Amino acid sequence: MNRFDQRIDRAGTQAVKLDARDKVFGREDVIPLWVADMDFAAPEAVTRALAERAAHPVYGYTLFPDSLYQSLQDWFATRHHWTIERSQIVMAPGVVPSLHAAAMAFAAPGEGIIIQPPVYPPFFSAIEKTGRRVVENPLLETADGYRMDLEHLEQCAVPSDTRLLILCSPHNPVGRVWRDGELEAVLAIARRHDLVVLSDEIHCDLVFPDKPRHRVLATIANPEDPLITAVAPSKSFNMPGLGLSALVSANREVLGAVQSEFDRWHMPQCHPFSIAGFAAGYREGGPWLDELMAYLQGSRDEVLATIRQRLPGIRAQEPEGSYLLWLDCRGLGLSNAELKRFFVQEAAVGLNPGYTFGSQGSGFMRLNLGSPRPVLREALGRIERALGRL
Ligand SMILES: Cc1ncc(COP(=O)(O)O)c(C=O)c1O
Repeated sequence: MNRFDQRIDRAGTQAVKLDARDKVFGREDVIPLWVADMDFAAPEAVTRALAERAAHPVYGYTLFPDSLYQSLQDWFATRHHWTIERSQIVMAPGVVPSLHAAAMAFAAPGEGIIIQPPVYPPFFSAIEKTGRRVVENPLLETADGYRMDLEHLEQCAVPSDTRLLILCSPHNPVGRVWRDGELEAVLAIARRHDLVVLSDEIHCDLVFPDKPRHRVLATIANPEDPLITAVAPSKSFNMPGLGLSALVSANREVLGAVQSEFDRWHMPQCHPFSIAGFAAGYREGGPWLDELMAYLQGSRDEVLATIRQRLPGIRAQEPEGSYLLWLDCRGLGLSNAELKRFFVQEAAVGLNPGYTFGSQGSGFMRLNLGSPRPVLREALGRIERALGRL
């Protein structure tokens, strides 16, 4: 049996995906294919590192060891051909906190921050909750997948009070892996209009083997560009509950500005378990990740085929990266409220409503492929039967 086919019961572990079902969907029996974590066991190396750390009974204040930075540097040099100096790294308590810190560091209250919806909902809330202004550059929907609207991006960047662009690369929820030409165009626009760019590359390792490689934006930027990259092992090795992430920039001023935001709040991200998991994932998780991506690719293909053959009214473009599938349900002719009701009440499957990713997500739902295939099959079967009753 493939290790990823194994069902692991997460209920009762305070897993948001499982244990918040009653609160979010109003029933506990939906098959949960929503929150972006996977139902798979993390690499053995991560579990072992955590167990070893736990076996030492003193959990005191902890330093970031050099080996932690080295694990990150080695991973990105090997996997992404990106050379990172130790002085270019700032540890952070997560990517979403980093979005908040960047919003505060680079824009004043009321100033504009560009995002490209449909996009991961905290891109909106990081801007709104810090009192900055959302500037939307919606992605263009084409027959060949989503693209950035570069012309409109330039227009968004023109006003002098537009300060920051938050890029999602690869893009959650549409699964696009941005090409070099697109990334170069983004950098050129940012240079012309003095924009800081925060590139959220948390999904960078989750690119399907049959798709183009992920390109780290920093590897085509100039060192002086005001660019900051957010990375983490949390999605790659399925340990987002551990929290730790990193910010990387060759531009000292930009890196220092975000560090100052964290310092203002005295955010102590240095947690002995996060450190152990982070380093073990990057040091030893490679073979596990390769197996995972092969498995997810098979799941993706099977799910897409099932959708085509058995779920009339629903379509999905093939994602290039991330384990998320963006379902176009507009063919069902349901309102957002009806769509939500259909999946929860009729199908008993828990998905993320597309409108939470911006108004461009109206009529869409997001499905998480990170569950054993038997679970995905059961969920698709439920949707098929519910469609038959529509
Ligand atoms: C694009 C993106 N950024 C950030 C996160 C979460 O980051 P963190 O858990 O480190 O705050 C997610 C999780 O789904 C994501 O999709």
